[in-house]
Amino acid sequence: MNGIAFVQGASRGLGLALTRQLLAEPAGHRVFASCREPTRATELGALAAEYPDRLCLVEIDVTREETISAAAEELGQQVDRLHLVINVAGVLHGPGFAPEKKLDHVDPRALRAVFEVNAFGPLLVAKHLHRFLRHGERSIFASLSARIGSISDNRLGGWYAYRGSKAAQNMFTKTLSIELGRVAPRAIVVGLHPGTVDTDLSKPFQSNVPKAQLLSPHRSAASLLSVLDGLSHEDTGKVFDFRGEEISP
Ligand SMILES: NC(=O)c1ccc[n+]([C@@H]2O[C@H](COP(=O)([O-])OP(=O)(O)OC[C@H]3O[C@@H](n4cnc5c(N)ncnc54)[C@H](OP(=O)(O)O)[C@@H]3O)[C@@H](O)[C@H]2O)c1
Repeated sequence: MNGIAFVQGASRGLGLALTRQLLAEPAGHRVFASCREPTRATELGALAAEYPDRLCLVEIDVTREETISAAAEELGQQVDRLHLVINVAGVLHGPGFAPEKKLDHVDPRALRAVFEVNAFGPLLVAKHLHRFLRHGERSIFASLSARIGSISDNRLGGWYAYRGSKAAQNMFTKTLSIELGRVAPRAIVVGLHPGTVDTDLSKPFQSNVPKAQLLSPHRSAASLLSVLDGLSHEDTGKVFDFRGEEISP
């Protein structure tokens, strides 16, 4: 896979690993990578110094739509198309909130915070970037989802905000695939489950995960990029795991 890529949420974890990998591929992507505070994203800054001609950092906080439209504007001054957009940003826990074990823990502020990033974020990015995908070349718009966003796979319950936000994200993915399919027939829109990956997001929950099942960000990113490589147009609107297996809605 090569071309021009946009990684949204690249400061750490999977976003950083995906950015690093896209730059290291022999074909060599040109990459735009966004994060909330580019000047404080040390590792991403070091990558930008390593690849000054191929990596450009832009600021996006998905909870502030004006930052997404400004980033699109900045992008438009440099390129007229993208071949790959990956929405990575996601939250599971944060200051003052954690996944709900039971109904009594449900808190509207946490629901709003999680939905804003996980569900509204990729949709607003699509709103401002879709014009870069309306070309005749193959392109992919992918959002990192999670297996627990599958309604049919929900056996344990709990985690209301995270589950609900990822299920909503998956519905937005499907809906977007239909609209983009009309105007950009070679665009493929998918959700991706990265596996259980050793990042800040999963840290508090790793004690229940067998060691062999915990993927490094590097390994997960490599698998996800190879899944994206193998996608065909019949796959648009669907969600796949890091092994390329489809996850039922
Ligand atoms: N790790 C796993 O096991 C796992 C499993 C299933 C799905 N996922 C999904 O994979 C994605 C990446 O997760 P990760 O494990 O890499 O998590 P992570 O290490 O916690 O990184 C989360 C990323 O999201 C960014 N972010 C948070 N709020 C944002 C906002 N308002 N605007 C823009 N960026 C924001 C963070 O930026 P800052 O540095 O600025 O905070 C950071 O770059 C998420 O969508 C997650 O739901 C992960």
